[in-house]
Amino acid sequence: MTNAPVLGIDIGGSGIKGALVDLEVGDFATDRLRIPTPEKSTPGKVAQVVARIVKSFADQIPDDAPVGITVPAVVTHGRTRSAANIDKSWIDAEAEKIFSDKLGRPVLLVNDADAAGIAEERFGAAKDCDGLVLVTTLGTGIGSAIIYRGVLIPNTELGHLEIDGFDAESKASAHAKTSEDLSYSEYVPRLQRYYSHLESLFWPDLFVVGGGISRSSKKFMPKLKLKTPMVPALLRNRAGIIGAAYLADQAK
Ligand code: BGC
Repeated sequence: MTNAPVLGIDIGGSGIKGALVDLEVGDFATDRLRIPTPEKSTPGKVAQVVARIVKSFADQIPDDAPVGITVPAVVTHGRTRSAANIDKSWIDAEAEKIFSDKLGRPVLLVNDADAAGIAEERFGAAKDCDGLVLVTTLGTGIGSAIIYRGVLIPNTELGHLEIDGFDAESKASAHAKTSEDLSYSEYVPRLQRYYSHLESLFWPDLFVVGGGISRSSKKFMPKLKLKTPMVPALLRNRAGIIGAAYLADQAK
């Protein structure tokens, strides 16, 4: 691990955010810069915004310093493979290469929930858990990360488990709650169904729940009946950036 801060960038549906991360403490070393995601968010257009963010931090990092970047998609060998809630042009795009060509520096591309998950495991809510951690992010979709004793199993995509004939995230994401105008007493049974199912498949030692809705964890967590302890994410919307920077540094 290096002492120099590392740049992490989080590509989301509405904003692209970046900050330098101090990996000694596992938190931001600078303020976060946010630029709205372009209307038609193809890899090329997003790379232009990412380049603006990198440029604004460029005088604080070496020219060849790697950048960690998250995307809400499956990523294998630098290629984005899916596009559940993003522009379909990401499917099978050589996204890591598109970014590194544009930026002229090494890029580590990672699924957004995997980045958030590793950050929570290394520096956040699961720091002291010595077992199997299952991190879920409840947002537009449901992201998932499985980390066993510090090792991330990438691209688990547990938001797309089929439960009762439905794609799980279409019923249990935070977006489903908002778009169907569900009260917590209507939403909690959906979360109960989802987390009971996850529990019966993976038997984790700890659930960490992230996404904006985790700020309201008191409204749903105490009502869930699970065998597994469940805690809200600690790093909240910083987790993706922190995890991406951490993984970029590890990949050096
Ligand atoms: C995508 C995942 C992503 C999650 C959270 C899902 O719809 O398939 O790749 O991690 O949303 O953004």
